[in-house]
Amino acid sequence: MTNKLKYFVGNWKMFGDFTSFKTVNKINQFSRKYKKLHKNKIILCVPNTLIFFFNKKLQSKNISLGAQNCHYYQNYGPFTGSVNSQMLKKTGAEYIILGHSENRSEGDTDKIIEKKINSSIKNKLNVIFCIGESYKQKKNGKTFSTLRKQMKNSLKKISNLNKIILAYEPIWSIGTNNIPKASQLKKTIKFIKNESKKILKIKKPIKVLYGGSVDPNNARSFSFIKEIDGFLIGRASQSAKKFIDIIENYYK
Ligand code: PGA
Repeated sequence: MTNKLKYFVGNWKMFGDFTSFKTVNKINQFSRKYKKLHKNKIILCVPNTLIFFFNKKLQSKNISLGAQNCHYYQNYGPFTGSVNSQMLKKTGAEYIILGHSENRSEGDTDKIIEKKINSSIKNKLNVIFCIGESYKQKKNGKTFSTLRKQMKNSLKKISNLNKIILAYEPIWSIGTNNIPKASQLKKTIKFIKNESKKILKIKKPIKVLYGGSVDPNNARSFSFIKEIDGFLIGRASQSAKKFIDIIENYYK
């Protein structure tokens, strides 16, 4: 079993209220003990309405909290219903998911995502930048060109790359219980790491997580793909038991 640092990131999506603190608390307590066994980092990206509350309520913090999106504009402005990265930082968020396919499908372009990344980094948030191909792009053999384009268009001008983690999330895997074949996933993660070195002109590859239908039953199978630096977990992260089972099964 690997002793490399692995990330387990929960993406709660539009879920949860103040009573959900019990879920956060259970995961936090688990993390306190489990960190001694394996090198891992747990991050929960929850709705904006809950970040400040969870942050205040957690007594000893063994996990990090994050947001799931922000407006691209850096300052205050006439954007009804929106929240920028600076406002999120002040709630106690340390991380932010950007470029998720659910936001891309609502109009987030590569350029808008680039602005969001820039503003988040300026405000000292760590960015979890999602990329991924659709089923049609996969069928047409366009997986690698799609991923390359997404990385190039949103990351090329970013200066502080230490603050970026990539998350490979094939759109056809999200919420579907379909996961890529291990051999294909290994190839794709390797491609992303190599390509990120070329595009960003860096020596050490960027960290790459996998996301899409990760659950307690398939968690162990991913541990054989050493190139994966962790997971972005959607539905299963809304339950403390499932989220903890994923982590324990991964290390079994
Ligand atoms: P899922 O979602 O685990 O429910 O497939 C993953 C994600 O959208 O980040």
